[in-house]
Amino acid sequence: MAKEKMIKELEDLPGIGETTANKLRAAGIDDLDKVAVASPHELSELVGISVDKAKEAIDAAKDATTINYETGAQVSERRELIGKILTGSKELDKLIGGGIETNAITETYGKFSSGKTQIGFQLCVNAQKARKDGGLEGNVLFIDTEGTFRPERIKDIAEGAGMDINEVLSNIIYVRAETTEKQMLTVEKADKLIEEKNVKLIIVDSLTSLFRAEFIGRGALGERQQKLNTHIHKLQSLADKYSLAVYITNQVMDNPGILFGDPTTPIGGNIIAHAAATRLYLRKSKEEKRIVRLVDSPSMPEGECVIRITKKGVTD
Ligand SMILES: Nc1ncnc2c1ncn2[C@@H]1O[C@H](COP(=O)(O)OP(=O)(O)OP(=O)(O)O)[C@@H](O)[C@H]1O
Ligand SMILES: [Mg+2]
Repeated sequence: MAKEKMIKELEDLPGIGETTANKLRAAGIDDLDKVAVASPHELSELVGISVDKAKEAIDAAKDATTINYETGAQVSERRELIGKILTGSKELDKLIGGGIETNAITETYGKFSSGKTQIGFQLCVNAQKARKDGGLEGNVLFIDTEGTFRPERIKDIAEGAGMDINEVLSNIIYVRAETTEKQMLTVEKADKLIEEKNVKLIIVDSLTSLFRAEFIGRGALGERQQKLNTHIHKLQSLADKYSLAVYITNQVMDNPGILFGDPTTPIGGNIIAHAAATRLYLRKSKEEKRIVRLVDSPSMPEGECVIRITKKGVTD
């Protein structure tokens, strides 16, 4: 440590100057962890340095990277700090283990009018409540990609909860994203806003519609998935960094590969399936009723419940 310089960036690695570092970045190897797990031959080929030099850089990167070890008991302690936003329906809260969790991504998918956006509106209001009342005492960043945000619905729901309508509305920071670039940038640049405005819930409604519209055809699928992957990883890292909840909605398609049973499948494939800790499938039933199916959860068994979507929001 004494005579060696601290290695923090690619340029600090032995034999890696600015030009080589930039070549590495261009090839997607943009931090020390990625250098540490690269093979000498791969690195040598990518940026045109000798295999020996590459090996030296990899070893130095390995030494410089740190792994945070925690015991199960420490993780358990940390998890006790996880916040939860109540959904408005006790049945739904029970199904998902007590509410929408912070530090994680919760997804709803389903056909039109299945209630995805309405649940988002309810969460906009509930996130602002006191912790003892099932909120997070925080504000909301609402990224609207479909133009379906309705302040009047927020008013109805806030009024139903006996809250100050204007205050509730002014604690929602709204962004209308018309392109995937705008959608992604809003999340990329959210750090400052989250800190300044005490954002505790980010909603992306919907996560996938613009991606689906912009990247058409088989040829564009790879790029679409890559961008979606970056986007959703950034959302997860914000959830972790600021202990906030992320709620995303997702469109569906009919999967022709499913011959028996319900062919309704969420968009986005494995990338979203892996990233969303809790996945809920919504189906319209009679009148106000919606059937919610818990499809995936880190700690709760699969199951179903019925909720109602009323003028005053989500209830049992
Ligand atoms: N004021 C209200 N009172 C009662 N129910 C309402 C009210 N406003 C909307 N709804 C219900 O919510 C439904 C719309 O649900 P929502 O907007 O959440 O659908 P969605 O799943 O987001 O669909 P999409 O895929 O089209 O975005 C309406 O069809 C209606 O049944
Ligand atoms: Mg909607």
